[in-house]
Amino acid sequence: MRLFLGFKTRYLARKVFSPSAAVRWLRPLSTCSPVEDKPRPSMLKHLTSKIKATGPISVAEYMREVLTNPVTGYYVRNNMLGAEGDFITSPEISQMFGELVGVWIISEWIAAGRPEQLQIVELGPGKGSLTKDVLRVLSQLRSVLGGACVSVHLVEVSPVLSALQAQALTGSESHVTTEEDEGEGPVYRRGNTPDGLQVSWYRRLQDVPKGFSVHVAQEFFDALPVHKFQKTPRGWREVLVDVDPETDEKLRFVLSPTATLASTALIQPGERREHVEVCAEGGVVMQLLSNRICETGGAALIADYGHDGTKTDTFRGFKGHKLHDVLTSPGSADLTADVDFSYLRRCAEGVACAEGGGVACVGPVSQSSFLQNMGIDARLQVLLKNTSDSDSRAQLLRSYHTLVDPQQMGERFQFFAVLPLSRVQRPKPQTGLKLEKNRSPAPLPVAGFTTLTYT
Ligand SMILES: C[S@@+](CC[C@H](N)C(=O)[O-])C[C@H]1O[C@@H](n2cnc3c(N)ncnc32)[C@H](O)[C@@H]1O
Repeated sequence: MRLFLGFKTRYLARKVFSPSAAVRWLRPLSTCSPVEDKPRPSMLKHLTSKIKATGPISVAEYMREVLTNPVTGYYVRNNMLGAEGDFITSPEISQMFGELVGVWIISEWIAAGRPEQLQIVELGPGKGSLTKDVLRVLSQLRSVLGGACVSVHLVEVSPVLSALQAQALTGSESHVTTEEDEGEGPVYRRGNTPDGLQVSWYRRLQDVPKGFSVHVAQEFFDALPVHKFQKTPRGWREVLVDVDPETDEKLRFVLSPTATLASTALIQPGERREHVEVCAEGGVVMQLLSNRICETGGAALIADYGHDGTKTDTFRGFKGHKLHDVLTSPGSADLTADVDFSYLRRCAEGVACAEGGGVACVGPVSQSSFLQNMGIDARLQVLLKNTSDSDSRAQLLRSYHTLVDPQQMGERFQFFAVLPLSRVQRPKPQTGLKLEKNRSPAPLPVAGFTTLTYT
């Protein structure tokens, strides 16, 4: 079924994608600075001491230590994004990705009745490219935003990446806050964009001030720790990480001999798979997002690779754009697991708003559908029209295909959104009108999740 999006989303897309609005053609793939080569304290040594002292640890604890340990964590010490790093992400492939997310943010702000305040909150902003592209769209649509007070809030654990984000968004106009900076609270860095928007950095979503916010999490949830479980004749058992009894230089997986708190609490009754991964931390973030959306309105847009509660064994490592054994040289490679959108949906929909109602989840839809519904084809044509150099045109087409081609990122990556229930529910029919029996009205369309048509 084709649905027609409201006039406003089409107007926004046309305005941003008009030839005069094209400002940047493409982002070269290889821009990553070399990884720090200071001698690093050994993550393996840290993990083996920990396991020897307290016993085997859960995969979730292993992943949390390896990725975000404040001293030796992979994200804390590295700039891993880009052709010379370990992996590349959609916002790094083309500016079109962030621009279309920018249009989505404004269309949700309009759908919410144009609140006076708009907080853009990004979780795990990497090099800051997505927010940079979003802000360029906002700047082009300043007349649409009117007098709304826009601010940017970044949730990031990595000091290395937060410095790169600051460089991308504020140039030299940012400073790391210290305890002497009065009234900064949990803000650890603050700056201003060239347009004068305030940008603040936090370590946790809980620390972002409450207010109407559109949250974006692109390849954030897949970096959060997962618990792994296996069905056995004795019931569900948690997979743990232990030191290899033969050598301290190696780690190995073992099964917990008895049920753990996590295996008791996190496995759904009636689970049919033999092997299950559950990202409890992702569930907590989703509940926090949903509570905030209940309280203050707004939305969350989540883009990641994932499944709807069907996959079993997706925990893996990446190093130098290749698969890497998860237990080898911990801290030197990215660790990731596919996002279970059915679990995130359950966590979101379990949240109840104080004044009734709750949140609605839409999606997941494929990245290809989302970007096409948001108008990526029109944007590509504008960029091509404004690019005469044949190498740049070829690069533009390549990056477009990487994003939308089903064989590349188009099908594997998914978009999922959380919105106030009232945003998607049609207003109740006036009393006196008879509804057809057993027919619930179709939900209101949400940009990106329904087909965008230019009429
Ligand atoms: C896979 S990268 C994605 C970066 C960016 N969104 C992109 O698509 O290019 C994950 C990002 O999340 C951050 N991150 C990972 N775990 C985090 C946590 N627990 N809290 C906050 N940020 C986290 C990383 O430092 C990094 O910026």
